[in-house]
Amino acid sequence: EDAARAAQFQARIDEDERIEPNDWMPAAYRKTLTRQISQHAHSEIVGMLPEGNWITRAPSLRRKAALLAKVQDECGHGLYLYAAAETLGTSREELVDAMLAGKAKYSSIFNYPTLTWADIGTIGWLVDGAAIMNQIPLCRCSYGPYARAMIRVCKEESFHQRQGFEIVLTLCRGTEEQKAMAQNALDRWWWPVLMMFGPPDQASQHSDISTKWKIKRFSNDELRQKFVDATVPQAQFLGLTIPDPGMKQNENGNWEYSPIDWEEFKQVLAGNGPCNRDRLAARRKAHEEGAWVREAAAAHAEKRKGRRLA
Ligand code: 3HC
Repeated sequence: EDAARAAQFQARIDEDERIEPNDWMPAAYRKTLTRQISQHAHSEIVGMLPEGNWITRAPSLRRKAALLAKVQDECGHGLYLYAAAETLGTSREELVDAMLAGKAKYSSIFNYPTLTWADIGTIGWLVDGAAIMNQIPLCRCSYGPYARAMIRVCKEESFHQRQGFEIVLTLCRGTEEQKAMAQNALDRWWWPVLMMFGPPDQASQHSDISTKWKIKRFSNDELRQKFVDATVPQAQFLGLTIPDPGMKQNENGNWEYSPIDWEEFKQVLAGNGPCNRDRLAARRKAHEEGAWVREAAAAHAEKRKGRRLA
């Protein structure tokens, strides 16, 4: 690979220039972005499953409408992100096949079950809250199509976070049973949400090169800490207890949390989380049942192209 071109590329990155699909880029830049953007897209699509499970059981029409809108938004986020990944030269079919074959990852968080309605509020509040922390910096990612996809995603995520927080607030101001449901959901989701930000910095395989190429603007631990510091006061406002008795505020005002169980994270990534098999089975089934739609759309596109050329 031409060292001078690589140096010129790095100079563009250092100047905060945007890299566009037709620009020269190191093969490793293309590869790591295809990996991250496609896995981000897989996360959005698989993330529809835990919440979709409650659309027919939402407690009111208003809650159902908001949840329906959120799940549809996630599907749209997947679309933007697959489209951004395709600009790097890999087809959507190939990207999706990698996920269905268990070769490409999606966010660990979606391998946990949604047991009560409080989980839906907690997902909006914490999972989308964490996603916002991670996605705001991605709006300044060096790769143009990815950064631009993030602008709209972040706008929609803030609606997701607000509607989730409101659900949890309603439960916390409801009956004792409702507040207990909200506490039980927080107990189950808190630690898996902290794992969303990725392994600790010293165990992060891609952080160095992703930082050098301004794909990653903050480290995994920095974003995790920002999330914890922003969320503790919200839990206090709700009257909920974060399931980390050892947590304390240090002199800089940061909330120091207890060690995370990275063995659990490793197990979930290895496919042994509570719902991994269900999620992949659901995606494989949907993919098979949706084959006729893809074939029809492709045939229609061929016909239209033929008509235009005639
Ligand atoms: N779940 C699954 N895999 C994870 C993970 C997680 N929470 N955190 C890290 N990993 C994987 C990485 O993908 C990498 O494996 P790979 O080489 O096979 O891809 C490995 O663990 C090492 O981790 P690194 O820290 O070295 O990897 P990254 O530099 O890619 O950092 C990341 C991980 C911060 C998740 C980064 O990939 C990222 O920012 N991705 C885009 C954002 C994203 O995917 N967010 C998921 C949130 S879900 C969502 O947005 C939906 C919303 O609507 C709720």
